[in-house]
Amino acid sequence: MTKPDQAMTYPFPDGRQLEVPTEFAELRAKCPVQRVALPYGGEGWLVTRQTEVRTVLGDPRFSRAATVQADIPRTKEWLNPGGDILSLDPPEHSRLRRLVSGAFSRRNVELWRPRIEELAGELVAGMRAAGPHVDLVESFSMPLPITVICEMLGVPAADRHLFERFSELLFSGTGVAAEEVRQAAVSLTAYLTEHVARHRAKPQDDLLSQLIAARDEDEGRLTEEELVSLGVTILAAGHETTANAIANFVYTLLTEGIWSGLVERPERLDTAVEELLRHVPLGGSESLPRIATEDVELGDTTVRKGEAVFPAMVSANFDGAVFTNPQLLDLDRSHNPHLAFGYGPHFCLGAQLARTEIRTALGTLLREFPELHLGVRQADIVWREETALIRGPRRLPVAW
Ligand code: HEM
Repeated sequence: MTKPDQAMTYPFPDGRQLEVPTEFAELRAKCPVQRVALPYGGEGWLVTRQTEVRTVLGDPRFSRAATVQADIPRTKEWLNPGGDILSLDPPEHSRLRRLVSGAFSRRNVELWRPRIEELAGELVAGMRAAGPHVDLVESFSMPLPITVICEMLGVPAADRHLFERFSELLFSGTGVAAEEVRQAAVSLTAYLTEHVARHRAKPQDDLLSQLIAARDEDEGRLTEEELVSLGVTILAAGHETTANAIANFVYTLLTEGIWSGLVERPERLDTAVEELLRHVPLGGSESLPRIATEDVELGDTTVRKGEAVFPAMVSANFDGAVFTNPQLLDLDRSHNPHLAFGYGPHFCLGAQLARTEIRTALGTLLREFPELHLGVRQADIVWREETALIRGPRRLPVAW
């Protein structure tokens, strides 16, 4: 293991499929705040234990806004253009969250549940008609969250290629050209600007209209720019994440031989989903950096003002100081303070929606296909590129 002052190359090669980088366990044990060298912009710190990860995510001395347009240590060539909710600090961030959080509240998401269940039922009917061999990604796990998020924002499903391309580029590995991402962002922004204007002129019964109407006592409504940027973020973050989580969770339940156990005890589903969120990492070793705005003691290391820190949430989810037997996928785990949705001010805005979609998706599949199994050998499953920020199978052939 490298000493803290000797930089390790980061991000780590993620290993295959859904494996957690082995470096994390070593670092948690020996060097929880480790010096790392990034492909661009120099060196920073990688933080791997849950306590310190929570500090980096929750302490205002670690800034996301300071990453904007700055030549900081990073994995990709381009600089963070900013303008999105994940690039703001309080109090600007708090104002935006206040305005949008109602639309994503538990109560509001509950109103969408019947529609999510209906959609899951329709997709299952389609699988039956095409089966008994189907690709779960194409026939179920991708269309479900995409249709939900499109309907929430009132975006016609026929236009979805626009944001699919953008989010694929955004969440892809290091090999994508900055110009290609910029172009995709420009087209999506232009599209959403028109879309917001149409909604403003003629409000609909959907989440975008709710966001347009949202009003803050002190600061007034969301600006046009804020609405468009939120639309871009929600469209991109709202489907790649959940879609891959559903596919990864089905894959895990099938390959670990625990599908039938869950079929027999469906009342365990909610607890099981939390454990799958903890144990099956959607991302690899990479996370969004924060910049220290002053010198901060982190563990036994002093992070200097201006230095970049990478909070490894995937690693924190395997921290033995927090989870008993963390390597075990224990679908009955009752104490499960995982960080799959982050922590602190940037805690996932869509967590409630994602949970509802995942529970509905798995619940429907378990009920409808108790005999579900992989349709090909495990080794023949094709995965997204290994460096992608979000991991998952490109196709998941299943049969019943
Ligand atoms: C399984 C599904 C999902 C996972 C694992 C996930 C994970 C995360 C994580 C870890 C963060 C915090 C990142 C950080 O602080 O560096 C985050 C933030 C965010 N997520 Fe999710 N997410 C999921 C689904 C969704 C969905 C469905 C939506 C939208 C509808 C969404 C919208 C957002 C937004 C807007 C933020 C930024 C919040 C802020 O800056 O205040 N996510 N998500």
